[in-house]
Amino acid sequence: MCGIVGFVGSKKGVRVLTEGLERLEYRGYDSAGVAYLKDGKVNVVKEEGKLSNLKEKLNLDDEMTLGIGHTRWATHGKANATNAHPHKMGKFTVVHNGIIENYNVLRSELEKKGYVFKSETDTEVICTLLDYMYKDDKDVLSCINKLNKMLDGSYALGIICEDDKDNLYLLKNKSPLIVGVNDNEKYIASDAPAILDKTKKNIILDDGDYARLSGDKVELFNDGKKKEYQIKEFMYDADAIDKKGYEHFMLKEMHEQPDVFKKTTNPYLKEGVESLLNNMPDFTKYNKIRIVACGSATHAGLVGKCMLEEYANVRTVVDTASEFRYNKQFLEDDELVIVISQSGETADTFEALKIANKNGNDTLGIINEKGSSIAREAKMVLYTEAGKEIAVATTKAYSAQVALLTLIALNIAENKKTINKKEMIKILEDSKLVPGYIEELLSMSDIYKTIAEEIKDQNDIFFIGRKIDYALAQEGSLKLKEISYTHSEAYAAGELKHGTISLIEEGTPVIAIVTDDSIAPKTINNIKEVKTRGANVIYITNRKKESDIFYDRRIIVPEVHKVFEPLLTIIPLQMTAYYLAKIKGCPIDQPRNLAKSVTVE
Ligand code: AGP
Repeated sequence: MCGIVGFVGSKKGVRVLTEGLERLEYRGYDSAGVAYLKDGKVNVVKEEGKLSNLKEKLNLDDEMTLGIGHTRWATHGKANATNAHPHKMGKFTVVHNGIIENYNVLRSELEKKGYVFKSETDTEVICTLLDYMYKDDKDVLSCINKLNKMLDGSYALGIICEDDKDNLYLLKNKSPLIVGVNDNEKYIASDAPAILDKTKKNIILDDGDYARLSGDKVELFNDGKKKEYQIKEFMYDADAIDKKGYEHFMLKEMHEQPDVFKKTTNPYLKEGVESLLNNMPDFTKYNKIRIVACGSATHAGLVGKCMLEEYANVRTVVDTASEFRYNKQFLEDDELVIVISQSGETADTFEALKIANKNGNDTLGIINEKGSSIAREAKMVLYTEAGKEIAVATTKAYSAQVALLTLIALNIAENKKTINKKEMIKILEDSKLVPGYIEELLSMSDIYKTIAEEIKDQNDIFFIGRKIDYALAQEGSLKLKEISYTHSEAYAAGELKHGTISLIEEGTPVIAIVTDDSIAPKTINNIKEVKTRGANVIYITNRKKESDIFYDRRIIVPEVHKVFEPLLTIIPLQMTAYYLAKIKGCPIDQPRNLAKSVTVE
């Protein structure tokens, strides 16, 4: 989504803003702009497209002591320079992340008062409202407090008032914003990477917080009252956003998966007196588990459902957060609600969590970003240890979510004694093999490149599988769609006959996943059905021997205890998507129209 940076302090070139924005580029955007105080006036420069376009229009050495910058991911109005942020009206200039839901009403009222709007954005009402209120009030903080009460929706705002040359203002509600703190300079940013190279210290803000920042002072307020704050250290450093020699962040992050597996599972895979899994809350009291998430996190949830039902014998439903929040929820008292999110900021997931909390349910967040909004709102949190994920397409965070859900299932299973000690010992032993096997699969790039080459001109690609393999198929299909711009669908293998099989023709790629032995013969029958109709079958399996050949390409994943199979099977799917996107020349780390964290609904 959009990115915000802001700076106040002793003189710096305007490049401090563009550098910050560059470090947020991974989030996805389609225009960019900066505003900074120059000769007592606010100078606004904006441009459509990439930051390089904006930089061409700027003298990056131009010195300033106060400025804001923005990368915009268009919501209201086209991606062009007029709609790009910052927006300025009268004395006020703002950058905004989020959506103002009542902007139409506000805009009409302001138009009646004589204001003429230049852009189609919801953001322009913000600077206009501030300008209007300031005419009488003359106190910026008081205007911001009133503004907060007038706006409906989500907003992280960086604000400059032309009459106040020394201070940068901010307001945060339902959209991430942090303050970076150095002795003689302060920063604001919508995400830590923007300022990680400038400071290690930050202040996390709550909804409704607003602040006045000068080079040497932070004054924080909420609802008209001054507020205490704590300065914390970032959990990771600037190194986390280095490609470390890999061509893309996605490739680097896929290669980090062996390590992420160890970091995520090590705290729990500790042999105790009674059990082999430790340090986890006791979830045995819940008769039902509901998992709510978006995108890949939902797909991780689907894998989790299979594990929870199979091993822990607990009924599990998976809901897409954007639907869940508007459906009738039928939440039951003895139900644990698990929300899964890499960013911890996804708007729909956050709202789903609030609904469950309000209903009095116990809630557990499986979150990657420490201190994020969802992590703070959930009643319990287990962190995935994937580290900073930069590529828009998630890989290592997804695997970490799957790993953690698997451990939760095993923990319940151990406590409920639905799994025996012998099997748990085998699982513990096999857990040590997982990182090596992931590495082995990552190293097989030739086969992924060959497959990518063979399917690169196809317009439609199908993924099929049953049970856990269907859950993986859905993630494989999403990965392929989002980065290679190739249309693809995932189907429960048994569903094909009910319609989709009519789409199979000579050469149609079908990526078939078979790792679940209990159901393998059934899926293999479905594979044969598409093969007979001309499909180009790419078969991903842990089965070493087949009685006949019903596939065109086969990738064998190493044998390991069933609970860890998804962590291996997903690798060929991620890697094939990556190489297909690469062959097609797609911008792998920042696919068009997508954003790393979706903070609007
Ligand atoms: C996956 O590659 C996506 N880019 C997307 O589906 C993502 O998983 C989804 O938006 C949820 O994000 P979150 O984990 O940060 O909540």
